[in-house]
Amino acid sequence: MIKANGKTFLLQGKNYSYAMHVLESGFLQHLYYGGKITETDLDYLIEIGDTNAPHIDMNMDMAFDRMLSEYGFYARGDYREATAVFERKDGASMSRLRYQSYRVEKGAPNVKGMPHVRQGDETLVITLKDDFSDIAVDLYYTVCDDSDVLVRSAVIRNTGCEAIMLKKAFSFRAQLPNGNYRMMRLAGTWGQERIPEIAPIAHGITRLQSIQGCTSHNTNCFMGILKEGCTEDSGECFGIQLIYSGSFALTAEWCKNGPLTLQGGICDTGFSWELNGGEEFVTPQALLTYSGEGIGGMSRSIHDFLRERVINPAYVYKRRPIVVNNWEATYFDFNEEKLFPIIDEAGKLGIDTFVLDDGWFGKRDSDWSGLGDWFVNEKKLKGGLKTIIDRCKKNGLKFGLWFEPEMVNEDSDLFRAHPDWAIHKDGVEPCRSRQQLVLDFTRKDVVDYIFGVVSKVLKENEISYVKWDMNRNITEVYSAQLPAHRQGEFMHRYILGVYDLAERLTSAFPNVFFEGCAGGGGRFDAGMLYYFSQIWTSDDTDGFERTKIEWGTSVCYPLSAMSCHVSVCPNHQTQRITPFETRGNVASLGAFGYELDLSKMTEEEKELTKAQIESYKRTSELILKGDLYRLMNPLEKNYFCVMVVSKDKSEAYVVGERILGIPCDYNQYLYLCGLDENALYKIEELNITASGKALQNAGLLLPKLSDFGSWAWHLKKV
Ligand code: GLA
Repeated sequence: MIKANGKTFLLQGKNYSYAMHVLESGFLQHLYYGGKITETDLDYLIEIGDTNAPHIDMNMDMAFDRMLSEYGFYARGDYREATAVFERKDGASMSRLRYQSYRVEKGAPNVKGMPHVRQGDETLVITLKDDFSDIAVDLYYTVCDDSDVLVRSAVIRNTGCEAIMLKKAFSFRAQLPNGNYRMMRLAGTWGQERIPEIAPIAHGITRLQSIQGCTSHNTNCFMGILKEGCTEDSGECFGIQLIYSGSFALTAEWCKNGPLTLQGGICDTGFSWELNGGEEFVTPQALLTYSGEGIGGMSRSIHDFLRERVINPAYVYKRRPIVVNNWEATYFDFNEEKLFPIIDEAGKLGIDTFVLDDGWFGKRDSDWSGLGDWFVNEKKLKGGLKTIIDRCKKNGLKFGLWFEPEMVNEDSDLFRAHPDWAIHKDGVEPCRSRQQLVLDFTRKDVVDYIFGVVSKVLKENEISYVKWDMNRNITEVYSAQLPAHRQGEFMHRYILGVYDLAERLTSAFPNVFFEGCAGGGGRFDAGMLYYFSQIWTSDDTDGFERTKIEWGTSVCYPLSAMSCHVSVCPNHQTQRITPFETRGNVASLGAFGYELDLSKMTEEEKELTKAQIESYKRTSELILKGDLYRLMNPLEKNYFCVMVVSKDKSEAYVVGERILGIPCDYNQYLYLCGLDENALYKIEELNITASGKALQNAGLLLPKLSDFGSWAWHLKKV
């Protein structure tokens, strides 16, 4: 609900309130963000605001440093990092934004060309006007009455006739009063994506960013802000994440005894954007989540929000195909003789879809060649895709195919025909990564061409699943098609090109299910999830390493967004040996599948696979729709355990793993969460019936297991 009168603004979500106030001097002051308050509290909050920033003399240096504000300006008395910078023709860029007007709209804004929130209840738009230029900034706040997520973005408009250069254009500023906050980030590297890290926020600016052209393996576009005492299960925290997949920045700035300033959006390093008279620049949306129930509560709110309002509604709650992917089974070295036994076995085991990974096209026998040539390699697959698809159909399977649409190898027909289509700068030796170059997706002709060739393959073959990969960062940020003064637009234009292709392909082929991927989980973000309902979580499928990755990823993405596969042992990434059951249990916490040569499995493994598939069919509703509770953190304990509870609390699924066999650590209890306290539950595997209260308060004794042993329990109300 939104209460607005041009003087005060109060946004009321499910459990949070957000309040602002226009000062006499015309500055938009932030008053409050946190647990629910009422309208009658506004007067007292205004008083606190006045005490904090007693008198804004707008011509005084440092006048704004203690005022909590909604969008910062540059070189005019606010020394916190600017939220946006507008440079005029004469080079001047000082700005001072003051309130001009507001409006309240129904629903959520329809952002064109970028992923966005599909539905919301109401949107408040507050317009600020720069005192020194023709820039107006519209601040967007979309509120959903049944959610704790507030959607923020800014639209920067040039209301004059002369071009203005945006040097920075963040999506939002949010401020919290002086306090002892800690920051949670999801950091890592290839094969170890989104490992949570919590640390105190020190003075100065803490910046999470990617300048790689994608959200990156290293730092996810999420920042958690934890108030003092916040834990997994209790206390207050805030989550900030972007619906964006390109180079981004999220910053937290703290100055002694001052407020904490949170900002973010498109990465400003190297960024600029020419805004001609009458044009506007739309920033990506940021999701701000409040939780009074710890990090776990924040995650559950985000999961619901992404599922209900961001991910494709046609797929979000549909049971995901159980796939077998041939990548780790064959790598590039396959032909029909090698693939048929995998397909035949998949049919017998009850798998839904066979996904043919990298290597089916062009002259793709290694990563040195072929990218860009999206026509079948008939030397390898003599009967083309048709024979493979027919074999799948014979076995009752659907067929999926891998593409890496944004990439090109120098050894490809596409590159030979259009060397200028690869990102490059004449005279600069291009940086190669995995022997490939990136296509210049700032160019419409390039995106159109790729749309045409990928569409042709999808049209001519019975394909129900696409894995869209992206295996390198962007270097030599430059497009010969852009004039010199617009080169700063490259990175954002690149990702707009990716969104354009994703939008066109997913709209043209609504019956094809799309999965995202980027060298594992290098572009795992809410922007990609708008188009691709699930994303390959990581190339690391090890039965233990994955517990940490799943733990961290689930902080701000729902389980159903994570593709998780059972692979062989020794694991190809870690060389570790873990039990087959454990690999299955850990993978069952996401969109499930296999990534191995099914025909080489032992009879025992085949039986286990059948059982895993049966079990997954029973729990998949929970994975798609349930509430997640993280119980034992593998980064802190010798155990991993999470559980999912159905919304009506009639069912639950608990998966855990004992990491190492340490003597005498058996007498440990596991306290379940999220159950109906007064109901009785039967745990099938343990043959225990107990009340929700008992399972939560008295707990369960952990099973005695050796290294990497695991359990999966199904709970049902009796
Ligand atoms: C990336 C993906 C893998 C696989 C390979 C193919 O690394 O993460 O799953 O598709 O590319 O080259």
